[in-house]
Amino acid sequence: MPVFVLAYSGGLDTSCMLKWLQETHGADVVTVTADLGQHSELVGVREKAEASGAVDVRVEDLREEFVNEFLWPSLRAGALYQGVYPLATALGRPLIAKKLVDVARKVGAEVVVHGCSGKGNDQVRLEVGVLSLAPDLRCLAPLREWELKTREQEIEWAKSRGIPVEATSATPYSIDENLWGIAIEAGALEDPWAAPPADCWRLTTNPLEAPDEPEEVSIEFESGVPVALDGDRLDGPTFLDRLNVLAGDHGVGRLDLIEDRLVGIKSREVYEAPAAITLHTARAALEQLTLDRDTQRVKAQLGAEFARLVYDGLWFTPLRESIQAFVDAASRPVTGEVRLSLHKGNVTAVGRKSPFALYDHSLATYGEGDAFGHASAPGFIDIFGLGARTAAQVQHGVDPHRLPVAREVPS
Ligand code: ARG
Repeated sequence: MPVFVLAYSGGLDTSCMLKWLQETHGADVVTVTADLGQHSELVGVREKAEASGAVDVRVEDLREEFVNEFLWPSLRAGALYQGVYPLATALGRPLIAKKLVDVARKVGAEVVVHGCSGKGNDQVRLEVGVLSLAPDLRCLAPLREWELKTREQEIEWAKSRGIPVEATSATPYSIDENLWGIAIEAGALEDPWAAPPADCWRLTTNPLEAPDEPEEVSIEFESGVPVALDGDRLDGPTFLDRLNVLAGDHGVGRLDLIEDRLVGIKSREVYEAPAAITLHTARAALEQLTLDRDTQRVKAQLGAEFARLVYDGLWFTPLRESIQAFVDAASRPVTGEVRLSLHKGNVTAVGRKSPFALYDHSLATYGEGDAFGHASAPGFIDIFGLGARTAAQVQHGVDPHRLPVAREVPS
């Protein structure tokens, strides 16, 4: 019997798949379920897979690895796709691909199977991930080829095979969750003119019903890595679980995006990412304090490129690794503490401090103790503006010596 490894969530699609692979391919199926910190989905997953005839059922707690090897690096990079989406789903896929390859090697499988559809990003991310790590493995995506075209057909098929179908899976939305956030699509969200219905949200309070009083939270970073929340040093998963609740209760982290998929489709997607948005806000505030202007600028450009690579499923590539090396080096001084205010859907940095702050009060102050060299400013402006004045002369025939030049006003 050939051995197939199936990325199994326990939902309707992958439950049907588990049986279908046995029937259609005569396969022994090993299931792999990744725990990336999603809450509801893991309950009973092992029992379900066993009941459906899996020869080996693996539920892998990948939360620590997910946070340390994927989420923190992408936070340091400032990776937000289209400037807004923190990439929760996209960051989970390469880790799942890695795990599928590990298990395939252990059990001697030749085929890796996933439940992604043919019109999304996730099929690309998983397959490019698997094939980058193990070019000899074959990938199979039953949703792209089997005869079950609608949800109703799947339910019928499942019932005819004795596969339990839960009423709870009857949500009109397609949802993917992990520690970095929740992606919600389909149903009423497919009308880009319609506001997201109240029942689509899972993790966040409606900002209108959030507490009237703002709440302050403090986050400490070491070289771009969040290490303490309100003074408590926490491991990554605990940090994110706690911050998701804290910020989510204030309605922080709701996003509504017309998203450009890799396969060319525009789709309407909403996200809840309270912890991710709060942490990106805090990181940006600390970088403003600790990084020079040029490093910030180049880091932002490379961060956008990093986000695109993650979105497009190109995690295991030389370019992603090289940008990561730059980001990690640039983030070395990003150590310190940020105070943030959470209030009615907004998160705002209100205070920041760092042993590596480049902010110098004696240079910045308009009050007592000003140490800035005012007398040097006119000479700086003369030379700084020389190129602009020369161009103006050539293009508009203006004598650069007669253009107004900054001079100290005689007192
Ligand atoms: N559009 C997002 C992405 O490509 C999320 C897709 C997640 N799937 C879902 N069922 N909502 O990263």
